[in-house]
Amino acid sequence: MATQGGDSYSYVAYQSDEPKFIGLAFEVADEADLAQAIADHGASDVVEMDLPGGGRSVSLFDPNGFRVELVHGIASKPALQSYPEWQMNSPLGYPRAGRFEPKRPLAPAKLFRLGHIGLFVPSYLATQAWYKDVLGLIPSDVYHVPGQPHVQIVGFLRLDHGEDLVDHHCVALMQSMDGRIDCHHISFEAQDFEAQFMAHRYLENQGYELVWGVGRHPHGSHVFDVWRDPDRNRFETFSDTDRLKKSDGTRIHNIHDVEMDVWRSDPPDRYFA
Ligand SMILES: [Fe+2]
Repeated sequence: MATQGGDSYSYVAYQSDEPKFIGLAFEVADEADLAQAIADHGASDVVEMDLPGGGRSVSLFDPNGFRVELVHGIASKPALQSYPEWQMNSPLGYPRAGRFEPKRPLAPAKLFRLGHIGLFVPSYLATQAWYKDVLGLIPSDVYHVPGQPHVQIVGFLRLDHGEDLVDHHCVALMQSMDGRIDCHHISFEAQDFEAQFMAHRYLENQGYELVWGVGRHPHGSHVFDVWRDPDRNRFETFSDTDRLKKSDGTRIHNIHDVEMDVWRSDPPDRYFA
């Protein structure tokens, strides 16, 4: 599946009798990073990718057995047109004065890129260590069990691009109570919350199953909307995410104090089911 922001594709699905999450991929800045991953971390040999846009990749496996591909050289394609930017009137300013805001169509969201992926893992700390040591990811916000700051069970990890800004997280890790190893959700960036609400209503009209949303997370600040596809996978749209740099560091929270939707009540049980 291709998103519309210029990537040749953002999500690959294969027909199978058995549902299974295979893994995730990160684009590396330099072809030499592929060889470095082989030398430093025992990645597989470089292969030519047989997907739109070509490119080359190596594969690693995280401690949970998820395949983590490092890719380079995939051709991009022209980005499709976005909606006219929504101008928000407020008491502090009325930029939309003098015209009518064009209404957005009741249609599937235009998705621009894959933003992050959520994973159920049996050990948050073991998984975090791997993504930190091998990929250099930085925890942005981490949740621990009440009264035990060292028992960390949820974390949102971002890329290390030095002092350049990146999304609050590209990987969210959630320690599963039952040892489950699985993908929790995959999240794509929508243009803005107006697009998300219109897509929400469109999906509702189509009879799809809502999981949770539209809401706003306290950490990352993004507006979210989570749905299930017919194969029971969770997919999310997001917009308006926080962007952080390396020096913004890591914040640690007692999970008991975290309200996961700042607009409404906490998530329904089906979010974690
Ligand atoms: Fe998410």
